[in-house]
Amino acid sequence: MRKALAELIHARLAPLVAEFVPNPRDFFELQTTPDPAKGDFALNAAMKLAKPARTRPLDLAQKMVAALAAETAWFTKVEAVPPGFINLFLTDEAITRELGRFAEDAEMGLRRDGRPETVVVDYSSVNIAKQMHVGHLRSTIIGDVLARVLSARGDRVIRQNHLGDWGLPMAMVLWKATPLLRDLEAKGLDPARELSLAQLETLYREATRACEAQPEAAAACHDILVRLQNGDAVLLQDWRTITRLSMREVYRLYEELGVLLTQEDEAGESHYRDSLADTVRQIRESGHLVESRGAQCVFLEHFKAKDGSPLPVIVQKSDGGFNYETFDLAAILYRIHALKASRLIYVTDARQALHFAQVFDVAHVCGWTKDPGRPVTLEHVPFGSVLGEDNKPLKTRSGENVKLADLLAEAVERARAVVEEKNPDLPEETKRQVARMVGIGAIKYADLSQNRNNDYVFSFPRMLALQGNTAPYLQYAHARICSIFRKAGLPADGAFGPPRLGHPAERALALKLQELPTAVAAVAAELRPHTLCNYLYELATQFTSFYDQCPVLTCEDPARKQARFFLCRLTQRVLARGLDLLGIDAPREM
Ligand code: ARG
Repeated sequence: MRKALAELIHARLAPLVAEFVPNPRDFFELQTTPDPAKGDFALNAAMKLAKPARTRPLDLAQKMVAALAAETAWFTKVEAVPPGFINLFLTDEAITRELGRFAEDAEMGLRRDGRPETVVVDYSSVNIAKQMHVGHLRSTIIGDVLARVLSARGDRVIRQNHLGDWGLPMAMVLWKATPLLRDLEAKGLDPARELSLAQLETLYREATRACEAQPEAAAACHDILVRLQNGDAVLLQDWRTITRLSMREVYRLYEELGVLLTQEDEAGESHYRDSLADTVRQIRESGHLVESRGAQCVFLEHFKAKDGSPLPVIVQKSDGGFNYETFDLAAILYRIHALKASRLIYVTDARQALHFAQVFDVAHVCGWTKDPGRPVTLEHVPFGSVLGEDNKPLKTRSGENVKLADLLAEAVERARAVVEEKNPDLPEETKRQVARMVGIGAIKYADLSQNRNNDYVFSFPRMLALQGNTAPYLQYAHARICSIFRKAGLPADGAFGPPRLGHPAERALALKLQELPTAVAAVAAELRPHTLCNYLYELATQFTSFYDQCPVLTCEDPARKQARFFLCRLTQRVLARGLDLLGIDAPREM
């Protein structure tokens, strides 16, 4: 609806101001009004354009009102109010007409105008031989939502899991694991069956301790790293074994979380091993490489140490080795040239903000983002930490990182109690399924519904509450609508209508439903999933208020009843679509 309305407004108002501003469209943004007495939408165009038009805002607003007043199919009233705002009051017919169109669109108005863009979303990006903990949760689920949202808008999304699989930690695990692997082989056993990720993690921890205490251990690990990076066949084979073993458990968690990442999306640090030298060469050719104390560096203007001296980005160490930075620079070239992306998005902890700012700046000064004849944008999507009830980063009682697997299991178990309380008569199998949807959904939603820049306190009771801005609340709203159809003996995916408005709660719901594309567009622009969460929560609340005031099943007027079924069905679809964009299941009963 907004799109159609915006077109109309542009067509009527642009001629009034075209001689004063080149791009009037930018000024006609429709705003939602705080209360219905001020109309359904407002425009502040006259406020912003009065100055270039050399007139008073109210005078310009009145002129604009006069140009819109004839559109009686759209407006019951258009008014100019001091100091120069314009309030638009829509006709019920306009709302239902646009609502009908919205309901007929299989894409639910989500497709954006313009050419699709190729977007890389780098997320999850776990490290091999370490179990996923809550820190990886945020990258994984925020990144997944961004990938879903951008592809729903029509962009070509390429997911990239930039695994930490080619650095010293890997060498340290290999140092400890190699003898074990040989031993298993001698016994004719399959390491993939015999070893777990938890064991690998223990080996890594042992190696860390050894390297700290004994220089020989550190030297041995460094030697392994060099041999691995030089392509030692046996080490490469072991490296592969460990990577697959490690990722097997990661995929188990992705599946449980309903995350889209697959093996095809893997492009870890090792993926760039043969292009690192070339990356450095390209930096040299652009004239920005400087040797400093034997290391190859780029000095950037914006990054200074505390004493004002320029801070180097080291792209090749004095021993010839490469850094985390170099891998990311190689990845940028690959994503721009091989993947042909024009938008690169990186979802990591805020603590990596400086890393990305520097890497992006190197890419910009080297001209890589202008090179391919299309502008390339690089965006870091940072997020805060998950805290425990003590406001410190979430840890187990013994002070260890909380394992994601344990967290998910506990959420599902606790959700089971919620289902049991809400609907004890459900068959056992359904209870189990619903508990999974609710438990996993609750964890994801609690994370996604926060402005990602903030830290948040992890709390099972809060995220599983059936009231408030939680997954169970939205899931329950969805299930409740499905149960309305069940009670009426109607198919849940039936078509109803036509829409018709009578009660103010119907009108408010009809308007709210059509705001889905706006909420999703905001997520795509700002890369903040909580905007969509807030929208869905408002929608569910609006639906509750409609359902409290407007009887559906007991409605006696058949046409009105059909129109209410229409609103129910559309609300159910919008909730399900919105939850799906968040990667959360919408149960049909609960
Ligand atoms: N593996 C890294 C870590 O756990 C995150 C990688 C993020 N992506 C990237 N292209 N640097 O810290």
